[in-house]
Amino acid sequence: MAEEKELEKEQVKVKEEKEQEKEKEIELTLTDLPGIGEVIAKKLTEAGYGDLISVAALSPRELISLAGLTETAARKVIQAARKVLDLGFTSATKFLEKRQEVIKITTGSKNLNELLGGGVETKAITEAFGSYGSGKTQIGHVLAVSTQMPIEKGGAGGMAVYIDTEGTFRPERIKQIAKSLGVKPEDALKNILVARALSSDHQMLLAEKVVDLIREGNPIKLLIVDSLISLFRAEFTGRGTLADRQQKLNKHLHTLHKIADSYNLAVYVTNQVMSRPDILFGDPTVAIGGHIVGHASTFRIYLRKGKKDSRVAKLIDSPNLPDSECVFFIKEGGVSDKE
Ligand SMILES: Nc1ncnc2c1ncn2[C@@H]1O[C@H](COP(=O)(O)OP(=O)(O)O)[C@@H](O)[C@H]1O
Ligand SMILES: [Mg+2]
Repeated sequence: MAEEKELEKEQVKVKEEKEQEKEKEIELTLTDLPGIGEVIAKKLTEAGYGDLISVAALSPRELISLAGLTETAARKVIQAARKVLDLGFTSATKFLEKRQEVIKITTGSKNLNELLGGGVETKAITEAFGSYGSGKTQIGHVLAVSTQMPIEKGGAGGMAVYIDTEGTFRPERIKQIAKSLGVKPEDALKNILVARALSSDHQMLLAEKVVDLIREGNPIKLLIVDSLISLFRAEFTGRGTLADRQQKLNKHLHTLHKIADSYNLAVYVTNQVMSRPDILFGDPTVAIGGHIVGHASTFRIYLRKGKKDSRVAKLIDSPNLPDSECVFFIKEGGVSDKE
């Protein structure tokens, strides 16, 4: 008897749950698409493309001129919109649920956030590349703190892991940035787990260990690898070993992707640039690591020094696409729009 009652109860529960699910309306908005933040959504809405159907029907060229996106970004957006519309009801709900889990972590600069579609996204790899002193590490420091802020304030309400390969992590900077973001400096430091990677193998191991940290109950929402390539580059020199290096790097990136996706955390990696004397026009620098890193990163920003102490960030997919640039500043309190 008791068993039957239990069964009945269970059935009622299942039925209720099903009904609730039906009631949940799928209301996808533009900001549910990858790389679309409030500002771009507003631009599109004002131009009469306020829903997914109209965006799905656009050509990349049209979207580029409407929203100032790069070609690859525009293609990603259109593909995502088309995919959602093609999905059946349940899979669209799942897609929406997955996208709604994504948290956008503030860089401290509105301009830079907007360039990235709202901030540094969880479930994605964001790569900053640029020459020495361009601000890659500084942005990493800011993110390590801002991740700790509540979601409503642009954070992710979690902890950060900082894999430092160059010995440039500075607790004093964390304290300064925390003060300006309204996070207690001691807390800020406690919530950043720093590890100095000594070799590329060590670096790979540290990345894998992040899973253990999460399982032990540390709510890690950001994983920084600063820098991604330097150790690989130092260890693998000469032509013969280039393929080995790429293979290992590929494996490492695969790990990073998997962690980002499985645990809804953001991955921020930095990358150096090397000089390309064969490029005569434009910026004669190119990211190290080649195509593998480029394809593996969801968002890539190229950083350089601008006029009067400013920094210029450019969303990159291909060097010859329409500009999608912004200006920001590095200050004692972190990253800012103002000089
Ligand atoms: N406390 C600070 N106040 C203002 N600017 C700073 C501060 N600390 C660092 N910077 C700026 O950041 C630059 C270093 O940027 P960094 O992120 O380390 O470069 P990289 O791209 O090589 O990682 C410095 O040259 C300086 O311009
Ligand atoms: Mg650095």
